[in-house]
Amino acid sequence: MTSHTTIAFIGAGNMAAALIGGLIADGTNPQHIIASDPDPAKCQALAEGSGIRVTQDNRQAVSGADVVVLAVKPQVLQRVSESLRDTVQAHKPLLVSIAAGVRSDTLDSWLGGNTALVRTMPNTPAMLQSGATALFANAQVEDEQRNLAESIMRAVGLTQWVDDEALMDAVTAVSGSGPAYFFLVMEAMQDAAQQLGLDAESARLLTLQTALGAARMAIESSDDPATLRAKVTSPGGTTERAIRSLESDQLREIFARALSAARDRSVELSQLLANDN
Ligand SMILES: NC(=O)c1ccc[n+]([C@@H]2O[C@H](COP(=O)([O-])OP(=O)(O)OC[C@H]3O[C@@H](n4cnc5c(N)ncnc54)[C@H](OP(=O)(O)O)[C@@H]3O)[C@@H](O)[C@H]2O)c1
Repeated sequence: MTSHTTIAFIGAGNMAAALIGGLIADGTNPQHIIASDPDPAKCQALAEGSGIRVTQDNRQAVSGADVVVLAVKPQVLQRVSESLRDTVQAHKPLLVSIAAGVRSDTLDSWLGGNTALVRTMPNTPAMLQSGATALFANAQVEDEQRNLAESIMRAVGLTQWVDDEALMDAVTAVSGSGPAYFFLVMEAMQDAAQQLGLDAESARLLTLQTALGAARMAIESSDDPATLRAKVTSPGGTTERAIRSLESDQLREIFARALSAARDRSVELSQLLANDN
């Protein structure tokens, strides 16, 4: 991203605010960011909090931008895109979509065709700049634009490119829905800890800190999770007994079925969004 790159956000909701916060923390000049949203109060709060420019006119935001981040809900994206079609075709910015389930060819057709478009799938920890975002670029996207899209999404966490857009459904099942799986595991561990006699607060704190510590070890260590697990599993010890119980209850198969179900639902929802509109 050059120091003059102008970024427009269409929709100034949660995700846009997280991305804008991350970009400014990374050193982007707030005056090079413009956000557009129909809600004047939301615009004003964002402008006051961050120093970015705001407007209620989507076309005005797009007309001066090198890159346009489409940050509205998937259900309104067709209407928003079609209303931007002429401006996009006249100015040819890079489009970055964060809308879940909207395929790049569907979005490209709403925008009038032949657009350089990067489809991304962030997740909710992006709000804490700890997100995981997968990106897919269509054939019109040039290398410099790929770098630009990546640097925007990197402001809220890790980025990972996929070459085959069909894999976005797998990504949705892994990192898109993934935070909820870990929350469920935390809930289950807290309940089990209370059943063993710990008070609710002790169960909560010990579970959550253990989750954080394990995630940090898995990320920061050169060992893979299987090796880390082997290192903390002494023969005949307590961890071994618990792991044996989880394995015999088919934890791996349970996760494989759950992720497969999420992937299938993602395919269905993408088809609905493409057909409904
Ligand atoms: N949140 C996540 O963790 C997450 C994860 C992955 C992907 N995403 C994707 O990110 C996108 C945004 O999600 P979000 O959670 O940030 O939603 P959000 O907080 O509802 O933000 C969307 C914003 O767009 C505004 N908007 C509605 N119609 C508009 C229009 N015609 N022109 C301009 N702005 C308009 C909304 O205003 P009103 O509130 O007044 O309608 C709202 O401020 C979605 O497509 C979602 O699929 C989100």
